[in-house]
Order: sequence, then structure tokens, then C-alpha cells
Amino acid sequence: MIPSSASPDASASFFLSAADDDDLGLSFADVDLADGQRWTTWPTATPTERGPEPRPGWVVTSAGAVDTELGILKTGKEADVFLLERAVPGDPAQRTLLAAKRYRSPDHRAFHRSAVYTEGRRTRNSRDARALARKSEHGREVAAAQWSFAEFEALRRMHELGAPVPYPVQVTGTEVLMEFIGSADGVGAPRLAQVRHHPDLLAELFAQVGDLMRVFARAGLAHGDLSPYNLLVHDGRVVVIDLPQIVDTVANPQGLDLLHRDCVNVCDWFARQRLDVDAEALFGELVAESFG
Ligand SMILES: Nc1ncnc2c1ncn2[C@@H]1O[C@H](COP(=O)(O)OP(=O)(O)OP(=O)(O)O)[C@@H](O)[C@H]1O
Ligand SMILES: [Mg+2]
Repeated sequence: MIPSSASPDASASFFLSAADDDDLGLSFADVDLADGQRWTTWPTATPTERGPEPRPGWVVTSAGAVDTELGILKTGKEADVFLLERAVPGDPAQRTLLAAKRYRSPDHRAFHRSAVYTEGRRTRNSRDARALARKSEHGREVAAAQWSFAEFEALRRMHELGAPVPYPVQVTGTEVLMEFIGSADGVGAPRLAQVRHHPDLLAELFAQVGDLMRVFARAGLAHGDLSPYNLLVHDGRVVVIDLPQIVDTVANPQGLDLLHRDCVNVCDWFARQRLDVDAEALFGELVAESFG
């Protein structure tokens, strides 16, 4: 199930305890990987494939860490999201939970995001561009990886702008590793649509959604697929996910339509919970922010 593992380099620097075999003495040779485990993919990632600095203290960067698949969080239309533990064996201080979002190649998807999102997107090199055009096996991998890189870039950008998104840890091929939003024992935070909220809390949640939409708008962006299913609620805080299709509201000819749809999707849901909200007012405000 787990994608190909990063093969551990046998050089001394990879040993957890290089100096002395008597203390902890764990080395790569001593760790038997079980099914659903791989060596951490962190060492193989280039700087641009790693999350922005300053890096949160919980990110495990040791080459001696092991990734363990703990189960599936959700199978989606275009990607599956898994719960992953990244931990250094024998070192409880270096253990973290991650959400691993793995994009499927287009022929394994139930749904294709409309081309309005990808207009003008560039491929990384001409070999990839030719493979995409031919729709070859490599081309299908490239197409899936474009979504994972797009999502990673969007997470990075929104994190840097201060929007409440999961911290993007790493992107490798078709897999995005990000902060797991949920409890320490691995229960994922519910989607906004899944919970019944007290009216006071509802108003507070709507305010948070408005705030995060303003962060996007001030940067000339819209989420592009916002709904109560792409908003998680964790400890009373709203976190926005599922960003690969983020749109430039000014440059994309459909940008304002997509922003409007985001406003309607969000406001319709809050209105059904009997909160007095106005999609057109929110849209007007966000348009003003976008061009302000
Ligand atoms: N960082 C995360 N922390 C916790 N849970 C997450 C995280 N990212 C995704 N999930 C869970 O996985 C689900 C699917 O994630 P996401 O919306 O990004 O993928 P998707 O392929 O677009 O799914 P869908 O087709 O259902 O929209 C989310 O609704 C959420 O329950
Ligand atoms: Mg989603």
C-alpha cells in the first residue's frame, strides 16, 4: 500500500547512534520495517519540497525516522488521505502524526476538476509536457503530481499569509504530507458540515470563515472549492483544507465566479443552520478586498 520507500543511505551520519553501539545502538540495520512502514522520505526531499521556515518544532527531520501507516482518514474523488506516524524508533520525543494526501492518476479518479483551474499552469520541463500531451503512463503520474505540487504550493502560500491551513511538511511525487488536524490519538477533526453547533458558536465559526476568506482575498485569491466539507473544526478553530485549485481572482477569467460560488456555498450552509448571513454582502466585501 505504501509508496516506494526512500532507501536508507548506509553512511555513518544515518545511524541513530553512530558513535557507540553500546548505548541505544539502534542503526538502520537493526530496524526491521513491517508492512505499512517505510524509511522517512524527508532526506530525499529538496528544499523546495519541504515546508516553509520557520519550521514548527514538531516536524521530525531525523533520517532515522520511520513512517508508519496508521489507517485511512478518507478516500476522496481525486485523492486518498491517510494517517501517518513519523517517528524515530526508541525516541518518544520525536514522534508526530501527519496527514498524507495521495493523488491518484487521472484514470483512477472518479472526478476531474474543471480545466478552468488549470488554465495557464506550466509543467516543470518539456519531457513532462510531452508526456502529459501523450497521456502516457509517465504523463498520468505527472498529472497527479501536478495536483500534489499545486496543493503544497497553495498550503505554503496560505500558511505564509497567516491563513489557518495545515502546515505543509513535504511533497514527494503524488503525496503531500501535512499537519494532521485532530487529536493526539489520531481522530481527525470533524468537517464543519458534520457537527451541530450552538448558535453562539455558529456565529463565531462564521466570523472565522469570513476572516480566512479575507486572507485569500487580500492576496487576490479565492479557495475555489470552498464548502462546509473543506473546513475542519478543531478545538473551536476553523482550518481550511483541500487547496490545490486555489484561483487568482484577478487573472483567471472565472475567478470572480468561483469566489462568488465559495461565498454562496458557505453562506447557504450557515443560513440553513439559521444564522443570518448574506452571501452577496460577503462577496461584495471580498471583491473590494481583492481589488483594494
Ligand atoms: N490535514 C488533515 N488533517 C486531518 N484530516 C484531514 C486533513 N486533510 C484531509 N483530511 C480529511 O480527509 C478528507 C479529504 O481531504 P480533502 O478534502 O483534502 O481531499 P479530497 O480528495 O478533495 O476529498 P473530497 O473528494 O472528499 O473533497 C477531509 O474531509 C478530512 O476529513
Ligand atoms: Mg475535499
